[in-house]
Amino acid sequence: MKALRILILFIFFASILGLAGCSQQPDSISTLQPGSSSSISPEKKYQDLIVGYAQLGAESDWRVANTISIKETADKLGVELRFLDAQQKQENQIEAIRKLIVQKVDVIGLSPIVETGWDEVFQEAKDAGIPIILVDRRAVVADDLYVTYLGSDFLEEGRNSARVMAKLVNGKANIVELVGTIDSAPANDRYTGFREILKSYPGMKIIDSQSGDFTRARGKEVMAAFLLKYGKKITAVYAHNDDMALGAIQAIEEYGLKPGKDIKIVSVDATRGAFEAMIAGKLNATIECNPLLGPQFFELALKVVNGQSVPKWVPSIETIFFPEDASKILPTRKY
Ligand code: AHR
Repeated sequence: MKALRILILFIFFASILGLAGCSQQPDSISTLQPGSSSSISPEKKYQDLIVGYAQLGAESDWRVANTISIKETADKLGVELRFLDAQQKQENQIEAIRKLIVQKVDVIGLSPIVETGWDEVFQEAKDAGIPIILVDRRAVVADDLYVTYLGSDFLEEGRNSARVMAKLVNGKANIVELVGTIDSAPANDRYTGFREILKSYPGMKIIDSQSGDFTRARGKEVMAAFLLKYGKKITAVYAHNDDMALGAIQAIEEYGLKPGKDIKIVSVDATRGAFEAMIAGKLNATIECNPLLGPQFFELALKVVNGQSVPKWVPSIETIFFPEDASKILPTRKY
């Protein structure tokens, strides 16, 4: 009797263990890639992605290079890209985001023209379940309204511009500043970072500061007006981008002074035009701001769509260039 009870118990436990073994689905689970959002929907690949991009415009050589980088990378990876150009207007950019929401894209990339005024449309994207990746420029919104920011440390670019300028002028200068687009992240931060460092140089004075809207044409106009007002009193120019510096160089030459010599010039971006100006002795330094963000952007987009975690800020790696290295480096510059 006792032996029979032991036999029944043995059969009972063996059948439970056997069933448990059968209920495993070895292959379907183990073949899922790490980071899949669920075991039901398989991980997406680049070719499955539909990505919307609301570009702010084409105001500078930098922006043109940035757009090419986004488009070329999408082509290379086989991503379906819906690219919209807002032509320098925030209302167009907001409308572009709304179009992309209606089209139910997987993710939206955006370079916000200005920092503020995005809460409502970002909330609409969030409600539609579409993540937003900020590219190149930050927006002042709550952290939960965007997934990540990919781009430069504009404050540090402003600080580096001042450090370089201080060396060039031996701590003594009358500076005019060509500011970028008003209320944009790079203009705000380059303005603040520059002043932070200038506090340690009482001999360096900013005698005027006006927006040139990041364009060559406006940079030239504003510089011409500065020269009319202050003439030879100006000893240095701080331009928030290379395009405005190149415009200022033309204005200085037309006024009859030598850019880079009579007036020292430091700007930001490190475009090919800046390298050419340095080789010609007309620009004294350029602080790099990297526009080639396409590869990192799509890598982030894929991770986000597949539910993988990404850092809240992915900073670009950047350096400073001077005239002495310009001829050697120019042939390697991609923008
Ligand atoms: O946001 C990056 C800035 O925008 C670049 O420095 C400038 O050239 C561009 O227009």
